[in-house]
Amino acid sequence: MCGVRQKNMASYLKTTKELLVFLGKSLFSVLKALIFTFIPKPRKNVAGETVLITGSGSGLGRLLALQFARLGSVLVLWDVNTEANEETCRMAQEAGAMKVRAYTCDCSQKEEVYKVADQVKKEVGDVSILINNAGIVTGKKFLDCPDELMEKSFNVNFKAHLWTYKAFLPTMIANNHGHLVCISSSAGLVGVNGLADYCASKFAAVGFAESMFVETFAQKQKGIKTTIVCPFFIKTGMFEGCTTSSPTLLPILEPEYVVRKIIDAILQEQLYLYMPKFLYLVMFLKSVLPVKTGLLIADYVGAFNVMDGFTGQKKKT
Ligand SMILES: NC(=O)c1ccc[n+]([C@@H]2O[C@H](COP(=O)([O-])OP(=O)(O)OC[C@H]3O[C@@H](n4cnc5c(N)ncnc54)[C@H](O)[C@@H]3O)[C@@H](O)[C@H]2O)c1
Repeated sequence: MCGVRQKNMASYLKTTKELLVFLGKSLFSVLKALIFTFIPKPRKNVAGETVLITGSGSGLGRLLALQFARLGSVLVLWDVNTEANEETCRMAQEAGAMKVRAYTCDCSQKEEVYKVADQVKKEVGDVSILINNAGIVTGKKFLDCPDELMEKSFNVNFKAHLWTYKAFLPTMIANNHGHLVCISSSAGLVGVNGLADYCASKFAAVGFAESMFVETFAQKQKGIKTTIVCPFFIKTGMFEGCTTSSPTLLPILEPEYVVRKIIDAILQEQLYLYMPKFLYLVMFLKSVLPVKTGLLIADYVGAFNVMDGFTGQKKKT
């Protein structure tokens, strides 16, 4: 009888201790987050890190390459457009990259991703920062969009992330050191009419990156970091012709601003980066407002017409 009582007491104390530790740690994490909203978080040093950027032939990918070149990283540049990628390579060398290699890779092709990844491992070494940035948009209404184009959207915007993780994550885990960066979109958080295949692929990219963040956390792989980037329209030409329903709250972003914020988020090991900041409020309102109210607001601010003038990227990839 006495033994049973002692056992119950011990189990009660263990549960109480666990609860107190959990509450203490939670409070500490909230305080830490609050402090870092007022003072900037320390930045990590990426000099000597090997950074692989997909879709480095233009737009954000090219600008990211130039920034990492200035930060002293080794660069591995992937794009389906050889000429444009070679140009980024040359520009990165001029910007002071310590080592830069350009590879032609169609990220929509699984076998090609694996083949080029093996080549990178042999020729450059382990990739420690992987930036899945390559992206395409069809800009067609769902029923007008040919199946092949929808499949292509998924292959480039989402499935390529699976194959690059498969290729590079194992070494990151073995070294307990790595950073996985997903360039998604505000269209990966909120559905947009006229953009169904793109939205679905970008939602998938967010879901995958977030799940892998949780998986590495649950497996105590503390050295593996994740950053998920969701920007609104950017002036790179990809969404040429599109408009904003509210230029003050949702401005069309400058690529240089977006890249500066992405670099900050990576260096500060920030998990989510939504741009502009108004998107955080949009996400909150999406969760709490009645659906009808949300739709009325969207209609009032012209959100259903943002894709009306879409012409897209002029150059062909
Ligand atoms: N521009 C925007 O308004 C905007 C907004 C939100 C998110 N994004 C995302 O940002 C990322 C970069 O877009 P961007 O605006 O710089 O566009 P961009 O068209 O300038 O650059 C995309 C690059 O990806 C490359 N690419 C396309 N298909 C490829 C493939 N199969 N394999 C390898 N490379 C391929 C292209 O050659 C190009 O160099 C994309 O993922 C895009 O979806 C863009």
